[in-house]
Amino acid sequence: MNRLNVDQEYIEYRDKIGDRKDLYDLVARKYDVKRVLYPGSHIDIAPSLVMPHAIYVDNFKGAIKFFRKIELIQEYINQNKEYDGPCDIVFLGQDYTEDLDIEPVDLIISQYAGFVGQATKKYLKTGGILLCNDSHGDATLARYDDDFEFNGVIGKNNKIISTHLDSYFVLPGNQTVDLAKVNEQMKGPKYKISANNYIFRKIS
Ligand SMILES: C[S@@+](CC[C@H](N)C(=O)[O-])C[C@H]1O[C@@H](n2cnc3c(N)ncnc32)[C@H](O)[C@@H]1O
Repeated sequence: MNRLNVDQEYIEYRDKIGDRKDLYDLVARKYDVKRVLYPGSHIDIAPSLVMPHAIYVDNFKGAIKFFRKIELIQEYINQNKEYDGPCDIVFLGQDYTEDLDIEPVDLIISQYAGFVGQATKKYLKTGGILLCNDSHGDATLARYDDDFEFNGVIGKNNKIISTHLDSYFVLPGNQTVDLAKVNEQMKGPKYKISANNYIFRKIS
């Protein structure tokens, strides 16, 4: 894999999933994030464009192969990053539910990769942020987790909304959320109002 391949592979992936750079930038700026952990990242390296220290974790062989060219990824990031100073990228090609040999982080990103928040919250500083979606139910589990405080959602046009939060995670007919089912099915419930991304602060 040469440099062009790395750039091209990332750009093709970014075009497929949608460019999340502005989303990560918004969260990084708002919460002054320097160190981010992204379990189940696949090859979404957009966090490194806006945050200087990023730890990616994925056990898929395609991701492991991509990150083998870490110097070329670093080069791409250096040419495209939006902050001054060096970028530091670490990739761990392992299961994120197993022990990670890392220092605490300011932000954890959880996108379509299982119960990332639950499995890795021990690496999040108290006061740190979990940015997650509810595709697999990770946001729902955080909502009912006493270690987290529900702080906001990402609204349209990439804005953080922190008002009327009690209208989220509400089921039709005010049914109660069945957490055992969420755990078993690995799928977020269909709420009356939902958001693409949710923000939680670790409070304990
Ligand atoms: C659907 S992809 C999403 C990738 C990326 N987060 C995104 O939104 O573009 C899920 C990724 O999570 C990884 N993954 C799922 N469970 C994992 C685990 N327990 N440990 C490490 N990686 C995991 C998979 O290998 C895969 O690359």
